[in-house]
Amino acid sequence: MNTQALMDTARTLVAGDKGLLAIDESSPTCNKRFATLGIPQTVDARRAYRELIITTPGLGACISGVILYDETIRQQKKDGTSFLEVLGDAGIIPGIKVDTGAKDMAGHPGEKITDGLDGLRDRLADYVQLGARFAKWRAVVAIGEGIPSRACIEANAHALARYAALCQEAGLVPIVEPEVLMDGEHTLAQCFAVTEQVLHTVFEQLYRQEVVLEGMLLKPNMVLPGSTCPTQEAVEAVADATVKCLARTVPAAVPGIAFLSGGQTAELASARLNAMNLRVKSRPPWALAFSFARAIQQPALEIWSGQLANVKAAQQALLQRARCNQAARRGEYSTVMDATGA
Ligand code: 13P
Repeated sequence: MNTQALMDTARTLVAGDKGLLAIDESSPTCNKRFATLGIPQTVDARRAYRELIITTPGLGACISGVILYDETIRQQKKDGTSFLEVLGDAGIIPGIKVDTGAKDMAGHPGEKITDGLDGLRDRLADYVQLGARFAKWRAVVAIGEGIPSRACIEANAHALARYAALCQEAGLVPIVEPEVLMDGEHTLAQCFAVTEQVLHTVFEQLYRQEVVLEGMLLKPNMVLPGSTCPTQEAVEAVADATVKCLARTVPAAVPGIAFLSGGQTAELASARLNAMNLRVKSRPPWALAFSFARAIQQPALEIWSGQLANVKAAQQALLQRARCNQAARRGEYSTVMDATGA
């Protein structure tokens, strides 16, 4: 294993004020988003949308890495240029989602276990051959009546650690993504307790599988009240709870934490990331970055709506959100940026 190369890639992905853009929605998930906007659910519509995203002028100035999906990593622009070449020209590091989805967990109603370990070593070798430099695996943990169970947390943490070890063996930086979902009526305190338990378990498993912490990134949820919880705390309370939870659970050897957005509005995701970077007085050991999908893409997707004539405006909206999150890494984001498009 070339540990130094893994460490260099991990650090580069979270260096300065840049962050990651996740465009690794599986085809069914991408189709679902298209369906709500009346966009055709075809391979070519998905290809055209991803071409729009990665050809956005100036994207490389705010985005360090893009997470692709198996279909996307093999695609080309309409003119035949491969997506990987486009990203390389923009100075953006390509990554790949390698889990095969969260499936119902046997004997545990309402809970999911992420699949994809079978044959993973061979798939990783293929992705390395194609040019991927990092990978992503997402586990999901729901909060509800009597859940999450220890069985769900432990099984998902174990799979994440086995995936991470295989990635490092293959020379890919693993992004470890345990997502505590925001759906539900649970409180911020409940999300804190579950996230703390999940992260403790994940790092215990990473240790047991001998994953090199300096050569990985963590992609967690922010600590939030459930989306239908009657009490919705202010941005600062969310930022404080999130940093406190991470400080208790994430070893200092991990170079960066790149949050998922998880269904927050684009503006709230930026504001909360900004508050974390602004309010942390004693410098945290890890970079606090972003790896958003919806919180960067959603406004652009709505503007595009499958129409060629809207490509330029959609790219401007995408760049705007990427820039807002770049500013949030510096603690310089304000909602004025959204109002003025500055
Ligand atoms: P969201 O930012 O939309 O939560 O997506 C992040 C991601 O990569 C999900 O796996």
